[in-house]
Amino acid sequence: MNSHSTDATASITNTSTPAPITLFDTTLRDGEQSPGIALDAAAKVEIARLLSEMGVSVVEAGFPITSRGDFAAVEAVARAIGRRTTVCALSRARREDIETAAAAIAQAEKRRIHCFIGTSPLHRRNKLGLTRDQVVEQAVSAIRMARNITDDVEFSPEDATRTESAFLTRVITAAIDAGATTINLPDTVGCAMPGWFGTFVRETMENVRQKIAHPEAVRWSVHCHNDLGLATANSIAAIQEGVDQVECTVNGIGERAGNAALEEVVMAMTIQPEQFPRIHTVDTGRLGACSQRVSALTGYAIAATKPVVGRNAFAHESGIHQDGVLKCADTYEIMRPEQVGWHGERIVLGKHSGRHAFHDRMRALGYEINTQESRFRAAFQRFKQLAERSGVVDDTAIHTMMRTL
Ligand code: KIV
Ligand code: ZN
Repeated sequence: MNSHSTDATASITNTSTPAPITLFDTTLRDGEQSPGIALDAAAKVEIARLLSEMGVSVVEAGFPITSRGDFAAVEAVARAIGRRTTVCALSRARREDIETAAAAIAQAEKRRIHCFIGTSPLHRRNKLGLTRDQVVEQAVSAIRMARNITDDVEFSPEDATRTESAFLTRVITAAIDAGATTINLPDTVGCAMPGWFGTFVRETMENVRQKIAHPEAVRWSVHCHNDLGLATANSIAAIQEGVDQVECTVNGIGERAGNAALEEVVMAMTIQPEQFPRIHTVDTGRLGACSQRVSALTGYAIAATKPVVGRNAFAHESGIHQDGVLKCADTYEIMRPEQVGWHGERIVLGKHSGRHAFHDRMRALGYEINTQESRFRAAFQRFKQLAERSGVVDDTAIHTMMRTL
C-alpha cells in the first residue's frame, strides 16, 4: 500500500490514464432529507457552486415536486451552474413529478432527470400496492416522458438490493429500452455487505448486458446508505467492479444514518489509485472548506472522529504517536492535512502526550528551555497533572502554568 498520493502516483506502472468516474453529489437532495435540514435557494446555490468548482460532475439539486421552496431552489441552482456540472432533479415515476422536475431544471446548461420507483417486494406490496407488471409499466412510461425532455435520464430501482434478481434485470432492461441512460443501483436501506454488494453489482450488470442491444451506451451507478456504517466500503466495492458513477454526499449526510461520504470515497481513490479502474476529478484541497460550509449551512455538526474532515482526523494525542509524527508524518498519517484542506491542531497535548511534543509546543510558545533543565522537568510534571484533570491542555493553560511555575 502507498502512504499518500505522491508516492502512490509514482508507483503506477500502467501508462494509460484510467477514465474518470462520474461523481454525483446528492447533498442537496438526499443530504437535505436528513431530519431538520431545510436549505433555501441561496444555500443550495452556494453549495452547488462549491461542488462544481471542486470538480463534481453531477449535482442533484433537489426533489422539486416536494415543495414550492425546493422547486425555487432547484431552479436557482439550474440558473447558477454552468456547463462544467450537470444539474439533476429527482422525480418519482409519475407525470406530475417529471413535469415539475423538468420545469425546475429547464434553464440548466446540462440537465438530468432522475426517476425512481420501488422495485423490491416490500416496496411493491406494502408501499405502492403495485404488481411487477405495473411497476415496469410505470417506470417505462415515466422514462419515455423524461426522455422527451432531456437526453440525460437516470433510473433508480429503489431498494434494488432487496429486489429479486430476475425482476431487477427485467425492470432495468425495460428502463434502458425506454431510454434511460444511467442505471443507478441504490442500497436504499444500507443492508448490503461490501463483498456481497460487489458481486451483486457485477452480476446485475452482466445479466442486463446480455439482454440489451447496446450495453456500451449504458452508464452504471451506485447509491449507498450508511445504516451499518458500510456506505463508503460498498461504494468502493462497486467502483472496483467497474461502475461509471458513484453517488455521495458531503459529510455523509442523508436519510437516517446518511449516504456514502464524498470526502471518504474521493480520498480512498486518491491514496490508493492502483486499487481502482477509474480516477476522480476532485480538487481534494477544497474538501475541508466545503465540508465546513455544508456543516454551517445545514446545522449538522461534523463528528470529531469523522474521517478526512473531522477535528481529530489529523490530531495526535498520545506520546508515541506525537513522537512518530514529529519525526516523520507518514508514521501515523496516510494523507496530509493540506491535501484535503484540513485546518486544526495536529499535536493535541493531553495526558497521553510525551516530553517530545510538550517540548516542541513550549518552544513554539517562546519558552526556550532544555529538556535536561530541572525547570523543564517541573513544567512537564505540572502539565501532566493538569492534563489528568482537564483532558486537553491548550496554549493559554501552558502560559498560565509557566507564569506560576
Ligand atoms: O436511497 C434511495 O434509494 C434513493 C433513491 C431515490 C435513489 O435515494
Ligand atoms: Zn438515498
